[in-house]
Amino acid sequence: MASMEPVSSWNSNSVLSVMELTKEPMTVVPKNYIRPDQELSAPSDYSTLTTIPTIDMKKLAWGETSDLELEKLHSTCKAWGLIQLANHGVSSSLLEKLKHEIEEFFMLPSEEKMKYKARPGDVEGYGTIIRCNDQTLDWGDRFYMTLNPIQKRKPYLFPELPSSLRNTLEAYISELQKLAMTLLGYMGKALKIEIKEMEELFEDGMQSMRMNYYPPCPQPELVVGLTPHSDATGITILHQINGVQGLQIKKDGVWIPVNFCADSFVVNVGDVMEILSNGAFTSIEHRVTVNSDKERISLAMFFNPKFEAEIGPVTSTLSPRNPPLFKRITMEDYVKDFFSRNLNGKSHLENMRIKSGESTLAA
Ligand code: OGA
Ligand code: NI
Repeated sequence: MASMEPVSSWNSNSVLSVMELTKEPMTVVPKNYIRPDQELSAPSDYSTLTTIPTIDMKKLAWGETSDLELEKLHSTCKAWGLIQLANHGVSSSLLEKLKHEIEEFFMLPSEEKMKYKARPGDVEGYGTIIRCNDQTLDWGDRFYMTLNPIQKRKPYLFPELPSSLRNTLEAYISELQKLAMTLLGYMGKALKIEIKEMEELFEDGMQSMRMNYYPPCPQPELVVGLTPHSDATGITILHQINGVQGLQIKKDGVWIPVNFCADSFVVNVGDVMEILSNGAFTSIEHRVTVNSDKERISLAMFFNPKFEAEIGPVTSTLSPRNPPLFKRITMEDYVKDFFSRNLNGKSHLENMRIKSGESTLAA
């Protein structure tokens, strides 16, 4: 049975899909989606926007250009907290296949998708769990799941995906794992963190993914596709699957739309990277806005240190003039803390910060 209920009968623990909601003609969005808190303006014109600096993987690798590109990587991660990654090496044929498979998945009948529905008390699975009648909701369907370590994959999620999607995702994951490790190595180099130290933290680390589908909305200026947040990760590699814009970042207190190039990935500096770098790199608050004509589809891959790792500012980033700004904590406790909260800007990272007067030894 599909777990879709009309808005008037939302029950606690039912799983909601905006895609289903929008199958019925609609001119006014249900009140749970309206976000007076969100400083939304008229739909943005993405053609005239700020373009985030592009980092070229080939230039990073190539002797003569690598130093300059590394400097650019450093300054962009510091000032913007996200980069556009060009020449990432993932083949366009694989990306085409991925687009096709993910679009097919979201087009499946609701009954099929609800096989993967989020279960009460769990963060993984498809759709949004309704906890109470007045819950504020995002205008998007998402499917979140753990990928690595493989034994942490939920048996009823990834292994049960349609085989063509699963195989394509496996190929994509393996490409992205290589890419993420290489990029993390360069980030480490830019921060003067030994490659060995980065490998010890991230090799075979915790990895997860979120597929997002944001349907067109009759009143896009009233809703958000994804609530403002910074990613709790080491890094996130975001692929904007069908080339539809919508990502915004909050820079110097102002929301600005991000104009991206369709061939590039967007890479977010996550909170963990801000911690490891002792604040030299900053994670950036971002959100997704929607539009009235075209759905937006994206795939975010999250790369983290391993569960057993302890995270905190890496020794080489510290000096008497540069004392630790963040506490040390195991990845396991960090994740527990994260999932016990609602998405709320950078509040999770703030909780990791050493307050003035607090002993760093006790942390
Ligand atoms: C995320 C995210 C952006 C997007 O999943 O954490 O920020 O464009 N996604 O879907
Ligand atoms: Ni994000």
